[in-house]
Order: sequence, then C-alpha cells, then structure tokens
Amino acid sequence: MAHVAPGQSSGTTTRLACHHCTWQGQLGNQYSCPICGASLEVAYSLIPGRTDWTTAEQGIWRYRYLLPISQDQTPVTLGEGSTTLLEARGLERSGHLLLKNEFCNPTGSFKDRPVAVAMTMALQFGLQAAICASTGNTGVAVAAYAARAGLPAICLVPDATPMPKLLQMAAVGAVIIRVRGTYSDAYALAQQAAEHYGWANVTSTYINPYMLEGDKTAGYEIFEQLGRRAPQWIIVPVGAGPLLAAIYKAFQELKVLGLLERTEPRMVAVQAAGCAPIVRAFEAGADEVSAWDDEVATAASSIADPLRGYSVDGTRTLSVVRQSKGLAIAVSEAEIQASFADLAHTEGLIVESGAAVAVAAYQKLAEQGYIRPDEHVVLLLTGHGLKDIAALQTAAEANVSHTSEAVAPGDVKAVGDIVEKQQWHRST
Ligand SMILES: Cc1ncc(COP(=O)(O)O)c(C=O)c1O
Ligand SMILES: [Zn+2]
Repeated sequence: MAHVAPGQSSGTTTRLACHHCTWQGQLGNQYSCPICGASLEVAYSLIPGRTDWTTAEQGIWRYRYLLPISQDQTPVTLGEGSTTLLEARGLERSGHLLLKNEFCNPTGSFKDRPVAVAMTMALQFGLQAAICASTGNTGVAVAAYAARAGLPAICLVPDATPMPKLLQMAAVGAVIIRVRGTYSDAYALAQQAAEHYGWANVTSTYINPYMLEGDKTAGYEIFEQLGRRAPQWIIVPVGAGPLLAAIYKAFQELKVLGLLERTEPRMVAVQAAGCAPIVRAFEAGADEVSAWDDEVATAASSIADPLRGYSVDGTRTLSVVRQSKGLAIAVSEAEIQASFADLAHTEGLIVESGAAVAVAAYQKLAEQGYIRPDEHVVLLLTGHGLKDIAALQTAAEANVSHTSEAVAPGDVKAVGDIVEKQQWHRST
C-alpha cells in the first residue's frame, strides 16, 4: 500500500482514498485518483470507543473531530446544520415519521453543509476562487459561502435554473454563467475550468471529496436527535446521490467508533420519473447506472441530473442503496404535486419540488407495505419552497380563488362569508 501521510484534522488521522482502487494520499485540491481516475473520499483512522467525537458547538462544526479541517483553520460558516427533526402529525401513514428540515439552513437548502466544508478546505489549500456547476442550490450556497470567505464565486448553471435561485446568487455577488444545455454540460465545463485555472471545484457530485464530509453531518445529527440510534429508513431526494452516500457513511463511521450497535438505516433514493437514471438501473437489477439520454422532463429541476459523462457517480449511489438493503424509487409529476400539497396542508411546511419527491416516495412505500408501523422513517426535506416560485404558484393556484377576494374596510360580514365558503371549499 502507498505511504499514508497523516492529515492534520482535529485529532483523527485523515487522508484521501480512492473509492475504487487502493490509492491513498494526502489531503489536497484533488478530484480524482491518480492511478485509476475514480472519485475520491476522505478516510479516517477512527479510534473505536472514542467518546469525544463531538464538540460543545452547534451546527456541523460540532462534528469537527470527524471532519478534514486542520486544527488551526477557522471554518467558513453561516450557522449551517443543527436543523430540526420534526415529528410528522398529519402526514404519517405508516411507521414513525420524522422530517429533517434541511431547508432551515442559511441559504435554504442542505447544500450549505457540503459547501461550508469545501469552502473551508479551499482556504486551507490557499485557493483563489471557487467554481461550481449547479442546478441552483449548490450555486446559491457557493455564492454565499464564497462571499463569507472573501473568495470570488463562479456559478455555471443550466438553462432551466429557477429565477429565485439566480437572484440569490446575484445578490451575494457571484459570477453567474448560464450554460446552454443540461446540468451535465455545466458539470463538464466546471471541471475543465477548475483544472485550467486551479480553482476549487465546489460542484456537488462526488467530484469534491470534502463536500461529502459536510453532507454526512446530517447523518450524525439524525443519530443524535433519535437518542443515539439509527432509524430503519432514510428517504433522500437524489440527483447524483452524494447526500445519500454521505449519510450512510456517517452511520458506518459511528459503527466503527462503537457508538452504533444496531444495523445501519436502509437508504431510499428518490428521483423524478422524468430523470431517473439511478432508479432505472435499480429496477433493471443492473450493476451499473447509465446516463439518462431521454428528455429531462420534470419540474423538480434541483434533482434533474442526467449523469451524462459521469454515470459512475450514479453507480456509486446505487451500490450504497444496495449495500444498505434500501430501495430506489421514481415518482411522477402528479405525485410530486400532490405530496407538496399534502406536506403544506398537513404539516405547514413548504418545500421545493426536488424535496417533495421524498414525501411522495414515503407515501408510496407506506401504501405498498414496505414500511412497517413500528419503524422509524426520516425524510430529508432538502430545499425551501420559496426557491422555486413557479412551482409554488402552480401548487397554490388551487387555493387562491377565495383569498383573492377583496372586502371593503369594516365589512365584518364579508369576512365571515368568505371564511365559510373557503371551509366549505376545503371540505369538499
Ligand atoms: C433540493 C435538493 N434536493 C436534493 C438534491 C440532490 O442531492 P445530491 O446532489 O446529493 O444527489 C439536490 C441537489 O442539487 C437539491 O438541490
Ligand atoms: Zn483509484
């Protein structure tokens, strides 16, 4: 085995390791294995029985001992992590349903976790700028954290990126470049530009190994919030799938640390039927994912990743799903819309379509009897509803007819009439 240079993270030996072959090396601004070209991951020499795996801090830096940041590096933070694990009230169909409210992060999506870690590593490596390809949420996070870090941000976005996300990026001063094509086209260009200019590539597939380390903190939080145990199911909206893989990694690390006795959670990957390369491979019983060459046809733009040019990323996610005895499931546009409305009406939560897919998947799995009444289920609600006004408008249209009625000042009777009509409307 190659010589393993010790990393400098807070108390745990840390290194980069190839996901495919046995190559290992020092932490650095590196995005693929020098031997076989596969994606990398951060590996730790974990000490079983270690009890001081958390700090007194809140948020993702509570898990600093299990992150690759060096001891003397100040984190780039906007207060990400420590998101609520909310018990569902009206949505529950089977099992004990818990909602992990990732839209509570500073820029409105879970991406703040991976970007906070990757941006901190970019400073640690002395890099001068951060570039990303993004369906929107990563770009928003990169723009905000780069502003905080004092670095320029370059966001490459596909044509279909929702306007509110572009506005968020613009408001914090990012350079936004629209790429004519899909997310996969933006991905390729970000990779080339990062290499050419020596920038940090903060694209949230598997390309940047430090981003998964941020993602995995969601898993540690779930473990702690459940009273130091794993749920039976974790349902995750998936583009390429690093969030899903990283959450599973968290539970594996907890096992190595001797903190988790029972088995790990079963991971469910959810995609929109209009772009579902991972689900297609899962259902076909295939070992490898192939890119989605059909038309990308979904309003869930944040998870619409055809994986063109990097379908191995999909294969990496598929193998985690299988390893965890999990499932990959696709949901239709109608199911996404219905679950968006169910979540809003029964729990009071507004999420974007790319997050509502998790609700739709839960409802299907509960109906089909996969989830037993005694099981704990965690849904990752990954992005805020305010980020996609067009989807929000479509969903709200069914409900706006009465609210658009105007009344004269002082007309108490009209208020009562409208309320009565609206309640009648709701109950029919
Ligand atoms: C709201 C939302 N949910 C889920 C995902 C999918 O995450 P991953 O990149 O881990 O597949 C994304 C990715 O952009 C997202 O924006
Ligand atoms: Zn390799």
